[in-house]
Amino acid sequence: MPFEVVPIKPQIGAEVRTDVATLLGGERAADLRRLLEERVVLVFRDLFLDDAQQVAIARTLGTPLKEGGGEDGVYRISLDGAQNPKADYLRGAFYWHIDGSTQEKPYYATLLRPVVLAPTGGETEFANTAAAYEALPDEEKRALEGLRVVHSMERSLWYVYPEPSLAQVEAWQRVRPKSCPLVWAHASGTRSLLIGATADYVEGLSPEESRRLLVRLREFATQPPFVYRHRWRLGDLVIWNNTAAMHRALPYPADCGRLLIRTTLAGEEAVH
Ligand SMILES: [Fe+2]
Repeated sequence: MPFEVVPIKPQIGAEVRTDVATLLGGERAADLRRLLEERVVLVFRDLFLDDAQQVAIARTLGTPLKEGGGEDGVYRISLDGAQNPKADYLRGAFYWHIDGSTQEKPYYATLLRPVVLAPTGGETEFANTAAAYEALPDEEKRALEGLRVVHSMERSLWYVYPEPSLAQVEAWQRVRPKSCPLVWAHASGTRSLLIGATADYVEGLSPEESRRLLVRLREFATQPPFVYRHRWRLGDLVIWNNTAAMHRALPYPADCGRLLIRTTLAGEEAVH
């Protein structure tokens, strides 16, 4: 029954004070979806969920994806290869990015809960790409109109492997790149920037101009007023709106056993 919403920063984040039964019952699902639109990141403390409860809550908000061959909605975020055979790829998460940016419909939202904490570091940061777009000078908004950016998995993996083998690059390129508008105009009327580590180049610009623009926008969007840094505590649940946020993990000791459980909700809005 309890349901109290406390904003965290003016431009991003809200703590939702509620209980597990209320979340499992789904009676506040419409409120939570509206809050994801308005606040982008929602923080819940002291829930101490198990995997099944996390997936059940996810189902009240959308459609959990099956990722990495595990059970539906249960994906283990760990740098330990025994926990996650694709652990190496997760090192791309240390750079600002949007999940599923190469999909026809980028993922709607993600639920994340810690199981093992890092002794130091390992916070997750979120940047509100809709608030950042709104805050751009009008002249710059006009300059972005009609620009398209190509997103690729390959681009983000160059951050992790600056000197890859040809076989690695060929494997990365099997995930098809996707041309997207640089400014995503959502059905709701909200506009957000489609940038981050998967943003390879802006079509029609010189390589230098394109790199400058993408860095400029990333720098602008990740200024402190648009960013919430979450320091994990056991018992937490964080849900973020992936269509209006970039996120990244801060560094932590690779062998510390840090483990988060992720439930990703399928995209609902196509980007053309
Ligand atoms: Fe991610």
